[in-house]
Amino acid sequence: MIPRDTIQSIIDTARIDEVVGDFVQLKKRGVNLLGLCPFHNEKTPSFTVSPAKGIYKCFGCGKAGNAVNFVMEHEKYSYPEALRYLANKYGIEVEEQEPSPEEKQLDTERDSLFSLNAFAQKFYSQILHDTDEGKAIGLSYFIERGFREDIIQKFQLGFSPVAWDAFTQHALKNGYAEKYLIDSGLTISKEGKLYDRFRERVMFPIHNLTGKVIGFGGRILTSDKNKPKYVNSPESEVYNKSKSLYGIWLARNAIVGKDNCYLVEGYTDVISLHQSGIENVVASSGTSLTTDQIRLISKYTHNITILYDGDPAGIKASFRGIDMILEQGMNVKIVLFPDGEDPDSYARKHRSADVEAFISTTANDFIAFKTRLLLDETQNDPIKKAALIHEIIETISIIPDPIIRPLYVRECSEIMGIAEQTLMNELNRLIRKKAQKGGVSPQISEEVPQQPVIAPPQEPVLDVSDCSAQELDVIRVLLHYAGRTLKFEQPGNEPDETITFEVGAAEYVCNDLRANQIEFDNPVMRKIFEAYAEGVDGKTLPDDRFFLMHPEPEVADLAINIITQKYELSPGWEEIKIYVPVETDKLEDTVSRAVLSLMHRKLSAMIFHNQKIMKELSSESEAWSDHLSRDIHLKQARNEISRRLGRILNG
Ligand code: UTP
Ligand code: MN
Repeated sequence: MIPRDTIQSIIDTARIDEVVGDFVQLKKRGVNLLGLCPFHNEKTPSFTVSPAKGIYKCFGCGKAGNAVNFVMEHEKYSYPEALRYLANKYGIEVEEQEPSPEEKQLDTERDSLFSLNAFAQKFYSQILHDTDEGKAIGLSYFIERGFREDIIQKFQLGFSPVAWDAFTQHALKNGYAEKYLIDSGLTISKEGKLYDRFRERVMFPIHNLTGKVIGFGGRILTSDKNKPKYVNSPESEVYNKSKSLYGIWLARNAIVGKDNCYLVEGYTDVISLHQSGIENVVASSGTSLTTDQIRLISKYTHNITILYDGDPAGIKASFRGIDMILEQGMNVKIVLFPDGEDPDSYARKHRSADVEAFISTTANDFIAFKTRLLLDETQNDPIKKAALIHEIIETISIIPDPIIRPLYVRECSEIMGIAEQTLMNELNRLIRKKAQKGGVSPQISEEVPQQPVIAPPQEPVLDVSDCSAQELDVIRVLLHYAGRTLKFEQPGNEPDETITFEVGAAEYVCNDLRANQIEFDNPVMRKIFEAYAEGVDGKTLPDDRFFLMHPEPEVADLAINIITQKYELSPGWEEIKIYVPVETDKLEDTVSRAVLSLMHRKLSAMIFHNQKIMKELSSESEAWSDHLSRDIHLKQARNEISRRLGRILNG
């Protein structure tokens, strides 16, 4: 744990131009600096650094952040890792805070498991190389499979002895506690006896991102049908199956370099591809891919190529899982291996260059692949074809980027021989339906001119107690316009007389909301609001930097997102006039609308909540009539707000 004031001083010291400058060549351009974006491929620079604001923003890919975010994004560091990196760069001493007893205990548990797994890996490797049984059974198996010695070393392969408790006894003798032996799963305790989980199996250690051993897979060498082919370590404090990928520690650099990640099924596929010189490969280890695993890959690339050895039935079963990858905004390609081959066997039979060539020429875009595969089955059956359209459109609708979706619609329309417009209508209908379910406004692609929607509009199901959109808008208004002055007009005492009064935007927002006892539900937004409210009281408003460099990353992230939006249309970062003319032309309306909309929503939530209580009460009771008068009172207040909102909306 890094103490809070150290975090603040690291953030205050780190200069964005220097931090970025270590990785990106920057040229001066007015008050800002410009360079080629390190986060996407570009030939003309659109990566802008503002030393004044302490942030960067790429106008090509949209990535934005402060110095800490830059290090996290560029070096794939966690928040504390990035802070330590910066502390080191600027010679700031980091005194780590004493962890709590619980944290300490967890740390000990994790450290012990790491150390025990490392010990076990060495043990199994030693058995493989230095004992008669290891050499005769394990090593000869690997050699027969064609694994080279350097590859066996690289993957730290091993062999578990035949004896019942060889490893357990060896570990106990070396001072490892029984508790950790059992927690790691290396040892099984049954009826008071301890014995080894892995016996007479070749051992594949599983590593985390940084190369520490977190578990094992052990492959059987006999053809005993009663025993599982692989035995795997159970989950532990250090081994979370849904967050691990076999081979990731050896693949991460190659994945970034190739901007692509090959996904295979098994340990041996990863190893054989490495032996062929292909290193950007990981395995999901027999289970279907999880969202966490996809996120892990997406830290390094947005392109996944799945190498399949399955038959069409097996591939169809995995379509659901692939939709999940698309949902994360990744591009997915598929390579189908010839009958009976898998990446491992193919790599063993062909020269390295041929393996690469086979993969790159066979790789098929997933959506086109799925369309063709399903189309083959419809055989001009119109009902089946309709179902196919629906299924393909469903998949396309999952892609988060509204610019990419129409490209797929076009491709599929060509493959299926169906008018692009028909598919586009179906897509828009589906997106609208989903948006209504989720209560968000649909992002519909208008690439193809839209035709009227035939399906009747459905009543959106709104959760009135969710005020997050309105809270966000108030925070946005504060971050953009807090320092601006608003002019309001009021009728005076004389007929035709109007009095003009001026008020600071922040003062107007904060005082109005506080006077109406409106509180923010979202804790991050509440913090930003309170910082402004304090500023209003103390007559000095917090500036952009206060939020952009905030020691709490959630606050900084939200502020960076909102503040950089202001410059979206102005790559020079000057605030130019044309930016959303309606919004700044009549700033008074923009600000009042944000405040009133939040109040309106909060009142709706209160009314809803109050009515829910009334339903539970008997209408004879005194409490019920109390709630009834509250209901009337709240509705009056909401009507008043509606009236004021209506005046703004109708000009
Ligand atoms: P495979 O059966 O394809 O194994 O299962 P493999 O690794 O390619 O082994 P070879 O080539 O037949 O020697 C793929 C993956 O599924 C998991 C393992 O992670 C394996 O690598 N698996 C398979 C298990 O966990 N348990 C099993 O019983 C079988
Ligand atoms: Mn295999």
